[in-house]
Amino acid sequence: MKRLGVNIDHVATLRNARGEIHPDPVYSAKFAKKSGADSITIHLREDRRHINDNDAKRICSIKGLLVNLEISTNSDIVKNAIKIKPNFICIVPEKRKEITTEGGLDLIKNKTKIKNIIKKFKKLNIRTSLFVNPSLKDIRVSKAINADCVEIHTGKLSSLVKKGKNFSNELKRIKKCSFHANDLGIEVHAGHGLDYKTTKILTSIKEIKEFNIGHFIIGESIFLGLKNVVKKFKTIIK
Ligand code: PXP
Repeated sequence: MKRLGVNIDHVATLRNARGEIHPDPVYSAKFAKKSGADSITIHLREDRRHINDNDAKRICSIKGLLVNLEISTNSDIVKNAIKIKPNFICIVPEKRKEITTEGGLDLIKNKTKIKNIIKKFKKLNIRTSLFVNPSLKDIRVSKAINADCVEIHTGKLSSLVKKGKNFSNELKRIKKCSFHANDLGIEVHAGHGLDYKTTKILTSIKEIKEFNIGHFIIGESIFLGLKNVVKKFKTIIK
């Protein structure tokens, strides 16, 4: 069974545009779960541009809700994440000026730092995932530093598909990395830039166990409503 993680960061983006309390990310987390989401993803960015610490704490305290917290390797953020105690952590690279997460982690440069962070979360029984580019080398390093899962960055594939360009080489790269990670005992996830079409394409890779999708789900909900969009994705990944 493939799982759907719904990223609700942009519910907070919308709330913050008015500086008031609506729409509430906490309510949207509960609502997405009720609609069929297997887990909720939130990214506690260093600049808190969408989800803030209070949202993260409240969302992680919802009973029966599985929460995947995306964080950078910044030591204050790591300390906060330990206090917030999510079920899952996904370590991502973060640049101040980026609009969204551009590319996977630089695992060669940050190997020891990330290895030590993984150790901390594993001691707390928090499933830890690394956001990586579709590179076999990065899969091997992820194994060497004890990651439970890798989330393969699907931004390039999504962009090629949306522009109507040939995406077969990128899909092959993602496939090879998924096989390799699975062989090494690492669970494979996929995320970034996914919509109905790109998600459908990736369902051909049986090793991908979880999709984490945000911007498209929240945007499409304007037209169809969150409940219907979640249901549509669940049908696609079934
Ligand atoms: N996975 C990771 C690790 C991310 O950083 C993001 C963006 O925050 C996503 C998935 C979701 O990407 P999108 O909003 O494009 O669906």
